[in-house]
Amino acid sequence: MTERHDGLLGEVKERLKAARRPVVLSGAGISAESGVPTFRGSDGLWRNMRAEELATPGAFKRDPRLVWEFYDWRRGILEGIRPNQAHSSLAELERRCEDLTIITQNVDGLHRLAGSRNVLELHGNIWLVRCTECEKVTENREVPIEILPHCECGAVLRPHIVWFGESLPADVFDNAVRASESADLMMVIGTSGVVQPAASLATLAKRSGAYLVEINPESTPLSLEMDAVICASAGEAVPELL
Ligand code: OAD
Repeated sequence: MTERHDGLLGEVKERLKAARRPVVLSGAGISAESGVPTFRGSDGLWRNMRAEELATPGAFKRDPRLVWEFYDWRRGILEGIRPNQAHSSLAELERRCEDLTIITQNVDGLHRLAGSRNVLELHGNIWLVRCTECEKVTENREVPIEILPHCECGAVLRPHIVWFGESLPADVFDNAVRASESADLMMVIGTSGVVQPAASLATLAKRSGAYLVEINPESTPLSLEMDAVICASAGEAVPELL
């Protein structure tokens, strides 16, 4: 981390120490140093297609095999991947501050694997599947997964992931809104801040009086709303702060 961060880090550390209801809003960047490609980074394309072309109900209807092949690729990457220092530091913070809430857009399950318990997975989890007919949700850790997987009722299974054009699970999103409204500090870590409604939670926290910190090597549309911008990787900055 550069010298220009020194004063800033000191202030953020003090704010964190004083925070009673801290919230983390995390995105793909927090898992980058574990070896998980981000979505909008140079390695985020699969067969030259963007997530927005594959992670949609329309794409699944047109070609469920293709969509499952995409998730099979991502499962293959995630298999055996471990949480990094940023995930572990946040799990440690929760042990010190029980009111910490992690709101994540990630479906990789790495926050929980690191030991965090109060995690709201806005976009679902890649290790869960849901029946397209009876809607039963089950765990499935097969890698590679059989293409196409079927439910015991006979219908096709889909990833239990929120796709573009779909609503977030109401209970999870309501809890995320409540946590953001009552947060006194929010750390926005490793998200491009372009996917809604997740990104709007930072604005909501700011309006409700929270101190906002961004940790990201690049600036984002959310940077302007921040009280502090730490231009560094999560694996470097989060352990340093906590
Ligand atoms: P993106 O891929 O859009 O953004 C990743 C962000 O992480 C970028 O702003 C990078 O600058 C930053 N970044 C990269 N390496 C980092 C590091 N080591 N430390 C900190 N930050 C780093 O990912 P998301 O914002 O999470 O949806 O994308 C949001 C949603 O769009 C995802 O949840 C996914 C996707 O399509 C679904 O899967 C439904």
